[in-house]
Amino acid sequence: MILYYALGRQAMCEGLRILGATVGSRIAVPRFICSDVVASLSHEGYITVPYEITRDLQADVASPRPTAEYIILVNYFGFAADVDLVANTWGFTRRQILEDNAHGLFSRDSNDCLLGQRTTVGFTSFRKSIRVRDGGMLLINDASLANIAEFQKFTPVSRQTPRSLTFRRLSVALSKRSGIPLMNIARGAKRKVLRTIPQAFDPESRVPSAVSVTSLAALRLCDATTESERRRALYRALVPVVEDCGAEILFDRLPDGVVPYALPFLAPQTTVRRVRRALWLRNLEVFPWPDLPPDDSLSPNWQHQLHLVSFLE
Ligand SMILES: Cc1ncc(COP(=O)(O)O)c(C=O)c1O
Repeated sequence: MILYYALGRQAMCEGLRILGATVGSRIAVPRFICSDVVASLSHEGYITVPYEITRDLQADVASPRPTAEYIILVNYFGFAADVDLVANTWGFTRRQILEDNAHGLFSRDSNDCLLGQRTTVGFTSFRKSIRVRDGGMLLINDASLANIAEFQKFTPVSRQTPRSLTFRRLSVALSKRSGIPLMNIARGAKRKVLRTIPQAFDPESRVPSAVSVTSLAALRLCDATTESERRRALYRALVPVVEDCGAEILFDRLPDGVVPYALPFLAPQTTVRRVRRALWLRNLEVFPWPDLPPDDSLSPNWQHQLHLVSFLE
């Protein structure tokens, strides 16, 4: 069963509630994650317990089991997290593991299982893979929970398309025709203006709200095979370009079934600028992920060097 929300974090919080989490529940969350996820959980009254991630983006099960009732397990950038590893070494059951598939629309693991459907509850933020104004989906993979979920349904609502989204769609279409990287020109200007303005967490964003009718329609119109092939072809084409700039590709092999959200690579700032220049004409966006606080000394150096080439069209 699938329930739709405006944002992935809303699906995540609803998913935890369906699994039985209550105020004061302890939720293990990777330290390496965007701050909005942790902020949403804290606003719900959950206690977040950070755990570490290894360089191949798996839970660091060599460290002690986080003392938590539930764990958020992330399929970073569409690459499958090892559910068995976490279940077998840390002893979390599939009902305690919430599969965070925010990045992994259409992606599969080595057993050909769709990501987000490998534990009792998972979620996807499809707004990250398709250019729409909003879109989160909660995947309830256990029929015995479906009745509970009936009560949380939201009817999709009509919302006006924001001007920024219309602009983005137009520039992507125009760039394809003209070869002029309009989006990258706009991004460069925006980066200069916003450089010193940190993005604040909007507490309202955690309150469940309905997905827009237009976002849902775009998801249904999106052909999974064509989009998966586009992303996989782009990944393969970009690996040598990014490597030639001197960056380290995180996954130089693209396993069968993986539909990458982006191309993740490690590089210092000077190399990132080189990558940006090399991809500028292709209109592709390059950005650091996640937004780690600049004074963060707990995260290992490689995490400060992680950047993405986004495949969002
Ligand atoms: C790994 C991960 N999980 C969850 C989320 C939350 O998704 P959304 O921004 O749609 O709430 C994000 C994005 O911010 C994310 O990167």
